[in-house]
Amino acid sequence: MKDKLIIFDTTLRDGEQSPGASMTRDEKVRIAKSLERMRVDIIEAGFPAASPGDFEAVRDVANAITGSTICGLARAVDGDIDKAAEALKGARSARIHTFIATSPIHMRDKLRMTPDQVVERAVAAVKRARGYTEDVEFSPEDAGRSELDFLCRVIEAVINAGARTINIPDTVGYNMPHQFGELIRKLIERVPNADKAVFSVHCHNDLGLAVANSLAAVINGARQVECTINGLGERAGNAALEEIVMAVRTRRDVFTCDVDLDTTQIVPCSRLVSSITGFPVQPNKAIVGANAFAHESGIHQDGVLKKRETYEIMRAQDVGWTANRMVLGKHSGRNAFRSRLSELGIEFKSEDDLNAAFARFKALADRKHEIYDEDLQALVTDAGSQAENERIKLVALKVCSETGETPVASLTLVVDGEEKQAVAPGGGPVDATYKAIEAIVGSESELQLYSVNAITSGTDSQGEVTVRVAKGGRIVNGQGADPDIVVASAKAYINALGKLLAPAQREHPQLL
Ligand code: KIV
Ligand code: ZN
Repeated sequence: MKDKLIIFDTTLRDGEQSPGASMTRDEKVRIAKSLERMRVDIIEAGFPAASPGDFEAVRDVANAITGSTICGLARAVDGDIDKAAEALKGARSARIHTFIATSPIHMRDKLRMTPDQVVERAVAAVKRARGYTEDVEFSPEDAGRSELDFLCRVIEAVINAGARTINIPDTVGYNMPHQFGELIRKLIERVPNADKAVFSVHCHNDLGLAVANSLAAVINGARQVECTINGLGERAGNAALEEIVMAVRTRRDVFTCDVDLDTTQIVPCSRLVSSITGFPVQPNKAIVGANAFAHESGIHQDGVLKKRETYEIMRAQDVGWTANRMVLGKHSGRNAFRSRLSELGIEFKSEDDLNAAFARFKALADRKHEIYDEDLQALVTDAGSQAENERIKLVALKVCSETGETPVASLTLVVDGEEKQAVAPGGGPVDATYKAIEAIVGSESELQLYSVNAITSGTDSQGEVTVRVAKGGRIVNGQGADPDIVVASAKAYINALGKLLAPAQREHPQLL
């Protein structure tokens, strides 16, 4: 029997710390359900003390999920721990994850605390969390740059205080795989009560080594890996769940432990996270990139046709790649619509919500005859984005674009309940539309990214547009989907501006 490797997904917490990747409560629940379907062991749902919205999101996820443990992050302060416990009350299985920095630079320059004070605070935090649940995880933040003797001291103390998981973060992605593996091995060897806890790792990807470092740690005794779908996360991101899981599955000869996941859920979950956050997956990304299983060269194609294993080490279907499958069409009824969405993990809160989504589906099916799972996901994401934007609504858009003429957009929006119109010329139809929107909204924001993706194949595919907009240091993403890419572009921009105009009072967990 192999040891179990626990998969701890932090897409909803560290993933959400990517600039612009913030998610609504409903979106978090949709992603959590997808992770639950994948049988992820632990879902870190958020940082409840960050804001009332974050608290409610963790509570909603805790109430909705029964198949995975739900974890809430808390700094090593009483208020954070109490808030995490409160948000997790409805969870069938709850974990509190508390942390404090242990590297000399963080203790001295960020916390302004002595090492003794840090140990005292860590122990007090773990004890307080144990008052709420037996499942307490402790992380010495920036462990990758901490001194080994001090790390051993903190870890021994928190295990004595009741921590059952010790997570070793390479917070700034500084370590090399051989060093990080050795760090884990030494900690397990040196900490006298190490056998009373599971050792976990949490690696950032600043040098592109997050997955390599995590796997080196697993080879050296770590039995939990913290990771995110598509490697989303703060700065260059976290270790990608799909890469960790498939490395362990594919190289069973190398690892003495195994994961217990339904890997066929990986691609659907990756698509869901990408469509909700607006972070596209690069085509050559391992496992989930569009080209991950595509063979271009004749020699490779010939080899694969003769024997798949000549050039493929995994089967595309084992990670959930399926050819686009027509699932619904214009004659599909409400029940077929509801049951396909429910298979995709999307449930409606009320009959009214179902009816509204069904009306949108019918409108889409009139314009696009074959509706795929990807269309349904985009439809629900798009409806959520528009519903969440209470201040700006798109009413009408007309764009004239003709060879040799300057495109002109005529637009009607409702802003804060008042109907407004603008006409604007532009370099192209999208540019004209964005100028018309800005003429009405006057956001004075900077458009940092604009990207269009075809959701399915064929020229009748819906276009999914992602934009990133910045103002005064704040960055937000917006998404929109429509068979008309100019309309999709307008929706995406309006979605982003709506987020930018909403007040933001959210604390970052790693800033005290
Ligand atoms: O990167 C990090 O150190 C973290 C901790 C909060 C675990 O995200
Ligand atoms: Zn992190």
